[in-house]
Amino acid sequence: MTEMMKAVRLHEFGGPSVLRYENAPRPALASGEVLVRVHAASLNPPDLYLRDGYRALPPEWRPNATFPLILGTDVSGVVAATGEQVTQFSVGDEVYAMVRFPDDLMKGSGAYAEYVSVPASELAKKPPKIDHLQASGAPMSALTVWQFLVELGHDAPNPFQSFPHAPIPLEGKRVLINGAGGGVGHLAVQVAKWKRASVTAVASGKHEVLLRELGACQFINYTKTSIEEVAQDFDLVMDAVGGANMERFLSVIKPAGVLLFVNPLGFSGQEEAARRGITVSSTQVRSNGAQLGEIGRLLDDGTIRVVIDSMFSLAEASAAHQRASQGSIQGKIVLKAV
Ligand SMILES: NC(=O)c1ccc[n+]([C@@H]2O[C@H](COP(=O)([O-])OP(=O)(O)OC[C@H]3O[C@@H](n4cnc5c(N)ncnc54)[C@H](OP(=O)(O)O)[C@@H]3O)[C@@H](O)[C@H]2O)c1
Repeated sequence: MTEMMKAVRLHEFGGPSVLRYENAPRPALASGEVLVRVHAASLNPPDLYLRDGYRALPPEWRPNATFPLILGTDVSGVVAATGEQVTQFSVGDEVYAMVRFPDDLMKGSGAYAEYVSVPASELAKKPPKIDHLQASGAPMSALTVWQFLVELGHDAPNPFQSFPHAPIPLEGKRVLINGAGGGVGHLAVQVAKWKRASVTAVASGKHEVLLRELGACQFINYTKTSIEEVAQDFDLVMDAVGGANMERFLSVIKPAGVLLFVNPLGFSGQEEAARRGITVSSTQVRSNGAQLGEIGRLLDDGTIRVVIDSMFSLAEASAAHQRASQGSIQGKIVLKAV
């Protein structure tokens, strides 16, 4: 008989109300996979894009989904069972992961549930000194920061450019993080600080106190001041927002500096960048258990921390998505499953 669990499932694309908390079959385990009893899962922008059927993409790129599907990539929990060939994890281990991303980008990785199956290569032991809520907030945001700023860690083709992204040394560099209050941004500030960069954080005013506490030595409230008016000569700018007028960052970067985009689509400053010797680069985050192991050491000793914007139960996933749609997120929105 199929074992059942509670999960948040989609039967159609749409707004937050399409998220249904209901019974679903527990995932079956393939060889090399681990069944995780989810204690907490966190929200990331791709969860919202998929819930909405990737409406911002041209129709031919949108997912041809098989419903029902279960959203969610980021999870922290306890190993409930191990599949064949799994030697590095045992039942009872506390673990965290970003699950099958981008492999399951268009069909959902299944983290908004009581149980999720995870390839063992994507798992790491949860940092023991932080709780499941904080650990669940880390994977996608922290791996994005790690792969942009510290180590790429794979040789998969880059969907955004013809060359592999290559992080640069940050020691002693002047670094600006745009979107610094969000999931990616608040961890980018801390990782750059840990790497001994001097960090300028750009965000709306409500994030100033937090970002100074996390290590920013300069804060720019973008709702009041444009970056170009008050700052320049950065070695590296990481834009963790995207959207309109991404070319404006070029004017605050030193010749031969670096401009990183988490959302590169829409940038049209390639010629100016080439003229000034500025490297413009992006990449797509990929699941990586070994890197989560390294990140876990920094989370465990308090070098970096995950800030929780808000917490909801798994059954309240729809309300959590409503919160996410309002924007101005500070850190991470998490779902408590136990
Ligand atoms: N390339 C990749 O693999 C990859 C990986 C992860 C995420 N991403 C993308 O990266 C982006 C950020 O992800 P996230 O998880 O950090 O999102 P998030 O948690 O929603 O954070 C976004 C932050 O941007 C701030 N913001 C909004 N408009 C802004 C503006 N004009 N200037 C400066 N800050 C602004 C928001 O707060 P305030 O307005 O209050 O400052 C918020 O804190 C998303 O678009 C996501 O799709 C890409």
